[in-house]
Amino acid sequence: MPRLNTPAELETLRKKLVKNQSASRPCITVCCGTGCRALGSVKLVDAFRAELAKQGLESSVDIKETGCHGFCEKGSVVVIYPQNICYFHVKPEDAADVVAKTIKTGELVDHLLYKDPASGEKLVYHQDIPFYKYQERTVLGDNEHINPQNIEDYIQRGGYSALVKALFQMTPESVLEEVDTANLRGRGGDGFPAGKKWRTTRDAPDPVKYVLVNCDEGDPGAFMDRSIMEGNPHCVLEGLAIGAFAVGAKEGYIYVRAEYPLAVENLYAAIRQAEEYGLLGKNILGSGFDFIVKVHEGAGAFVSGESSALMTAIEGRVGEPRPKYIRTAIKGLWDKPSNLNNVETWANVPHIINKGAEWFRSIGTEGSKGTKIFALVGKVNNTGLVEVPMGTTLRDIIFKIGGGLRDGKKIKAVQTGGPSGGCIPENLLDSPVDYDVLSKLGSMVGSGGLIIMDEETCMVDIARYFINFLSDESCGKCLPCREGLRQLVEILTRITEGKGTMADMDTLEDLSGVMSEACLCALGQQAPNPLLTTLKYFRHEYIDHIKNKHCEAGVCKALLTFYIDPDKCKACMICARNCPTDAIKGGKGLIHTIEQDKCIKCGACLDTCPAKFYAVRKISGIPIPDNVPSEPIPLNRKAE
Ligand code: SF4
Ligand code: SF4
Ligand code: FES
Repeated sequence: MPRLNTPAELETLRKKLVKNQSASRPCITVCCGTGCRALGSVKLVDAFRAELAKQGLESSVDIKETGCHGFCEKGSVVVIYPQNICYFHVKPEDAADVVAKTIKTGELVDHLLYKDPASGEKLVYHQDIPFYKYQERTVLGDNEHINPQNIEDYIQRGGYSALVKALFQMTPESVLEEVDTANLRGRGGDGFPAGKKWRTTRDAPDPVKYVLVNCDEGDPGAFMDRSIMEGNPHCVLEGLAIGAFAVGAKEGYIYVRAEYPLAVENLYAAIRQAEEYGLLGKNILGSGFDFIVKVHEGAGAFVSGESSALMTAIEGRVGEPRPKYIRTAIKGLWDKPSNLNNVETWANVPHIINKGAEWFRSIGTEGSKGTKIFALVGKVNNTGLVEVPMGTTLRDIIFKIGGGLRDGKKIKAVQTGGPSGGCIPENLLDSPVDYDVLSKLGSMVGSGGLIIMDEETCMVDIARYFINFLSDESCGKCLPCREGLRQLVEILTRITEGKGTMADMDTLEDLSGVMSEACLCALGQQAPNPLLTTLKYFRHEYIDHIKNKHCEAGVCKALLTFYIDPDKCKACMICARNCPTDAIKGGKGLIHTIEQDKCIKCGACLDTCPAKFYAVRKISGIPIPDNVPSEPIPLNRKAE
């Protein structure tokens, strides 16, 4: 493709691409995001190709490999256009049926359709499936249509038109004004207004400035930025180029974790193609604006997502935070003014420029505008990536999109905002997702993690889990974080083992207060959030562990006891065969018993005892009943 030298040439190309794409031509799109790849979607593409050739349809049906559609647990995901027919759990061996039936005759392949868990009804079309129906996929929507390795797919769907608008119809100041008026808040952490940050960099006196993309995303279970970068890297590049124009930067850096190999691959391909087409590099589309983008592959440390640590890592040093008496927007990468935003923030920029600040402001709440992508995970029926308008309630996300909890269990809490976020209890689920509301509740929007917890979750153990994660990820540079987190882990572990005291709860709170004040960076300052919110909303569970040695969720092993009910045991011997430590004594015709000294509380006996007998019991905080024998006894004797 020859380089595009003017906006008119880009427009001509776009028109040609649109004309060549007949709206009625069938197209099989196969999700080739990381999740579906792991389930064999690359082989599925080959199978479709072979099948189309075999059935003589290779010239009349298109196949497209796309990025993540968000419903990864249902992979491999296939959408057939123009009808919008969705198929899930598609395997290479289904290709023949799909081509012979759906493509040739319009007949549906029943077992690949979505079955609504509530009604049992089979749903056919993308727009009818509740997981998609209640979303507003402004940023993620193009993932289903674009082959991320083909810039022309992006151009055909209007790609780079926002850059043209910025370069040829706007000034740097008016671009900045638009983003500022839109009140786009950073999608990666505290929700700092992007426009303010851009302005600080633009107004900094040093003439050399940088724009940076944060694609570190170290939160367990989060893959929002990964999916955008894998599925639609050009929207990030376009947003970044617009930002560079607004702040006066000629160079941009993308920090992407090396553990995201597909994101890295697609990103390199996108940069190469954008340069070939004249959409990055010197004199973009003849505008006189030069902008190049470089990629830095990070080594996957959670703390490197912190702005100063990320910039230090790009400079080739250990990714550790520094005190930010002077903000990185003024003195960042190589001490130059540097504007850092995360992937999702940059991906919003082309939409704002194209549709205007007022459009963006019409979505969301007073203080939180636009849409936000969440990684919905945990004990919910539908897990995946969901994009909703700010202001949507947590309850709607969990129940309308997520389809409620698995196995009809009750919800106990939702953890928002990643490991440094907080746990919000069931009675506050009608709270809207909004930066300020979640922060008032002691949590945050953060990068968009949403972990759903059911009644079988111990909130003390959850706090211990997250604090332990953060302790492992602390860079250790400053003492309050390094030692504070260790102490918190130690105390929480003690409580989960039934060795805590009431004074421990005061110590936890005091220490958290010190850390919030004294830690050098946001990792340490926000680390106590999961602890403080569980102390606030689930205090009774802490007290129960300390005073009654009781874990109501039955999670904390040190507080559990397993025993076999002599009135129920039928001497089937299954539990004894599955016990990894030979703690179960018994034999043919004998009521089995558990040697408590040998039991490691793995629960295998409980899981394997046949449901019709239901003889194994798990208790916490109460003694084993008196009628339980200490040694096996004959079945007909029962307990004395
Ligand atoms: S707060 Fe923690 S992660 Fe941040 S600088 Fe201090 S030790 Fe490092
Ligand atoms: S809980 Fe595990 S170790 Fe204990 S008796 Fe049951 S199977 Fe054996
Ligand atoms: S990777 Fe296929 S739906 Fe997410």
